[in-house]
Amino acid sequence: MGMAAADDLWWKDAVLYCLDVETFADSDGDGCGDFGGLTDRIDYLAGIGVTCLWLMPFYPTPGQDDGYDVIDFYGVDPRLGTLGDFVAFVRTAAGRGLRIIVDLVVNHTSSQHPWFQQARSDPASPFRDYYVWRDEAPESPTDLVFPDTETSNWAYDGVAGQHYLHRFYAHQPDLNISNPAVREEIAKIMGFWLQLGVSGFRVDAVPYLLEVLPEGKPRGNAHDVLVALRAFLSRRRGDAILLGEVNLEPQEVRRFFGEHGDELDMQFSFLTNQALHLSLARCDDAPLRQMLQRLPEVPAGCQWANFVRNHDELTLDKLQPQERDDVFAAFGPDPGMQLFGRGLRRRLPPMVAGDRRRIELAYSLAFSLPGTPVLLYGEEIGMAENLNIPGRMSVRTPMQWTAEPGGGFSTADPASLRRPLPTGEYGPEAVNVAAQQPDTNSLLNWMERLIRRRKETPELGRGNLRLLDSGAPGVLAHRSDYDGGTVLALHNFTPHERDATLRLDDGCTALVDLLSDRRHEASGDVTFRLEGYGYRWYRVIRSAQQPASHG
Ligand code: GLC
Repeated sequence: MGMAAADDLWWKDAVLYCLDVETFADSDGDGCGDFGGLTDRIDYLAGIGVTCLWLMPFYPTPGQDDGYDVIDFYGVDPRLGTLGDFVAFVRTAAGRGLRIIVDLVVNHTSSQHPWFQQARSDPASPFRDYYVWRDEAPESPTDLVFPDTETSNWAYDGVAGQHYLHRFYAHQPDLNISNPAVREEIAKIMGFWLQLGVSGFRVDAVPYLLEVLPEGKPRGNAHDVLVALRAFLSRRRGDAILLGEVNLEPQEVRRFFGEHGDELDMQFSFLTNQALHLSLARCDDAPLRQMLQRLPEVPAGCQWANFVRNHDELTLDKLQPQERDDVFAAFGPDPGMQLFGRGLRRRLPPMVAGDRRRIELAYSLAFSLPGTPVLLYGEEIGMAENLNIPGRMSVRTPMQWTAEPGGGFSTADPASLRRPLPTGEYGPEAVNVAAQQPDTNSLLNWMERLIRRRKETPELGRGNLRLLDSGAPGVLAHRSDYDGGTVLALHNFTPHERDATLRLDDGCTALVDLLSDRRHEASGDVTFRLEGYGYRWYRVIRSAQQPASHG
């Protein structure tokens, strides 16, 4: 069926897939993934049906924060290939209908970036004011992103004879957004990658990027910077987007879409994500339902991005201490699974002891709540983390393509891979693409069907959410209405069978079960029996309407 809307808001109907070039596929056998390997795998990605790839940083880097420490915004790290390889990749992806967005990491640079090197060694250099300097280290800001290694947001630089601001690691000095020259640099970087064919940016650490310290010299409202960058982006390429990383309280996130919807096009919903994990841990829909009620309304062109896991720790920082403890107890009781006192360094399948029902429940929610779903590479086959790798890198292991010792990721000696693969029940012998492809019941094939059905159901991404009372404890019921269509979704967070009752009014005569393709006559009060952790998506058929399933 062709329900796709014709208004060019492609990101509202997209399915995003995040990957890191260095851990996806290695084409030259050196143990590190590269653009050649990724390009070879584009048919796989087009085949599972994702529509837009988000590439984690691939720029030249000393690699002290896995590439989030950039020394040249206009290049490709030599381990991964060349700019030529990048363009060949973008071109091949476009040929398969895949869009690309890239990480824009401009809150800070690596301390080895030439700008910082010149800034520190010459107070008269124009680059000095690219960073934020103080003679004395201020007390604030006090909150620390990486409390395991950092004790302050300021570091003394002996060469400069001053302290500089760093919101992340000390080797990541913050750029000074108050300096118009820095804003111009950011626009120039965006212009460069747009010219090479990308459809937008995943903007790293947005609140920190816009932060102007109280004692600084603010030149205008920091949000004006985002308005200006978004306007620049749209002038250069009308359909390009900014997808921002903003992990703040419900009353604060709305601001980042812009007062007039003219800042970020999309924001990751960290709030939905944290509430989702609490609901999963407690087998209770209440935390998620309450959070969905608290989320601000999104301006017309804007959108949430919903995810189950990302490349960082599963942060639970917006939960209350008791709530966080409940998620820790359910999904990561061992301190070695936890990070920074606020998160889990795990992927979902081992968190739920491999329970396929709970895995499906989580992704069914990410794909049916209002917003655009984002997958992290390997989620489609149920990859796990490797807890032997320290810190956040535990979830950034190589993609598992085959059962071979190197997981089909690389022909190099498995001991020399970019990162060690997990072993045992989640190792490549047990979890890999090649084994799941021919198996109709595999998670991979289930995920492909989910992706396809989601693309055929624009009500989900675009519709207005309405929470319904299902009368069944632990069952979340919601409906999404868009363009005359209505979709109902039911999710049972409990391990028990539940009967949920919904009142089907406004002319409903039948329901199409979108995940099984069955059609039922239905009107008035209808009771749905859900198995433990069961979920359903239904399209409402109204009397005057033809059946609206895909068939
Ligand atoms: C973001 C990234 C994280 C990185 C940090 C600093 O939070 O998601 O991986 O370490 O920014 O750039």
